[in-house]
Amino acid sequence: MTNNTITREMFDDVMVPNYAPASMIPVKGRGSRVWDQEGNEYVDFAGGIAVTALGHAHPGLVGALKDQATKIWHLSNVMTNEPAIHLAQTLCHLTFAERVFFANSGGEANEAAFKLARRHAWQHHGEDKHEIIAFRNSFHGRTLFTVSVGGQPKYLEGFEPAPGGIRHAEFNNLDSVKELISSKTCAVVVEPVQGEGGVLPGDPEFLKGLRELCDEHDALLVFDEVQSGVGRTGHLYAYQHYGVTPDILTTAKALGGGFPIGAMLTTAGIAQSLSVGTHGSTYGGNPLACAVAQRVIDVVSQPEVLKGVRERSKTFRDGLKWIGDKYDLFDEVRGEGLLLGGVLSETWKGRAKEVLKAAAEEGVMVLVAGPNVVRLAPSLIIPESDIEEGLERFEKAVKRLVG
Ligand SMILES: Cc1ncc(COP(=O)(O)O)c(C=O)c1O
Repeated sequence: MTNNTITREMFDDVMVPNYAPASMIPVKGRGSRVWDQEGNEYVDFAGGIAVTALGHAHPGLVGALKDQATKIWHLSNVMTNEPAIHLAQTLCHLTFAERVFFANSGGEANEAAFKLARRHAWQHHGEDKHEIIAFRNSFHGRTLFTVSVGGQPKYLEGFEPAPGGIRHAEFNNLDSVKELISSKTCAVVVEPVQGEGGVLPGDPEFLKGLRELCDEHDALLVFDEVQSGVGRTGHLYAYQHYGVTPDILTTAKALGGGFPIGAMLTTAGIAQSLSVGTHGSTYGGNPLACAVAQRVIDVVSQPEVLKGVRERSKTFRDGLKWIGDKYDLFDEVRGEGLLLGGVLSETWKGRAKEVLKAAAEEGVMVLVAGPNVVRLAPSLIIPESDIEEGLERFEKAVKRLVG
C-alpha cells in the first residue's frame, strides 16, 4: 500500500536542499513504465540516470535479490562471500581485467582508481610521478577527489582547497594532452563517452592516441565507464567497441540495475599496489549487491541483448531525428547505443530542463545533460511498443511548447 500521507512538499522540510526533485513521487515501476502516487503512468526513457538497465522489477533481478536475502546480507571485508567472488570471476572473464575492487557507487569506484594510479606510480617511480590528467567537461563523481579530477569547476566551487596535481586537457584533442603529459603523469582519466558533459563520444583516434601517450610516459590509462558501461553502448563495455584497452576501468550505475554497487577493474600487476590495508570499504562487495549484479551481467552480456541495444538505438535515433527536424528541436542526435543526446538547436538553446518538464507532464521521463542536451538512457530491453509510445508523448510535449 502506498503511504499517501507522504508528500513532495515534505521533502523541503526534512532534506538537505542539494536536490530539486520532480513534483510527483513515483511509487511503482514495471519494465519501462512507472506510476506516481496519483496513479499517473510514465514511459521511462531516463532509467534512473542510466541505472535500471533491465527496467523496473525485472523478475530475474527480483529473484536474485530475494534468494540472497534469505541467505546472508552482509559480512564486511573481514570475510569474503560467494556472490562477490563469483561476480569478480565473471567480470574478469568478460573483460581485460584480472582483479576487481568492489565499491558502492561510481564516485567510490573512481576514488579507488585514482588512489591506485597514484600509489602504483609512487611505488614504481617515486612521489614526483603523481599528476593526473583529466578532461574539461568530464564528470567522475562528487567526492572531493572526483570533483577535482572532473572537469566542471562549478562542482568544486566553495569546496576548495582541492587535492593537487590534477591537470585538465580538452576532450577529443590529443595535442592538448601532449602539452600536459610528462614523466610526472601517473594517469590519464577519461570517459570514453562523456555522459554528464553532454553525451559526447570520444573519437576512436583520440582514445587510441591516449593509449599510446600513456605507454610512452609510463602512465596508466583509466576509463571511467560508470555511465557508458554494462551494455549501454551496445557492447558490454565501450572500450571493447573502441578496441582500446585501459589499465583501470570503473563501472557502477547499471552494474546493479538499481541496487547500489560500483567496481574498479584492473590487471593483476597493477592491483598489487593496493596491498592489504591500503584501501577499503565496509559495504564494498556486499552479497546482496553482488548477487543482483551477477544477474544483471549474466543477462546484459548475452549477445542478443547487446544486439537489441544497437537495434533499439536506431529506432530511438530515427524517432528523435524525425521530431527534431519537424520542430527544429535538435541540431544533432549523438551518443552510442542507448546513451543518446539530442543537442538543442539555436531556437531551443538553454531550454533542456523545460523540455524535460513538459515531457514528464505528457507521461515520458527523459534526462538532460547540461542546459542544451536532452539525454535518454532507457532500459536496454525496453519493448519497441514503449519506445513508440514514449516518442509519441515526447512529440506531444514538444508540440505543446511550440504553442
Ligand atoms: C562517468 C561517471 N562517473 C562517475 C559518476 C558518479 O557516480 P555515482 O553518482 O554513482 O557516484 C557518474 C555519475 O553520473 C558518471 O556519469
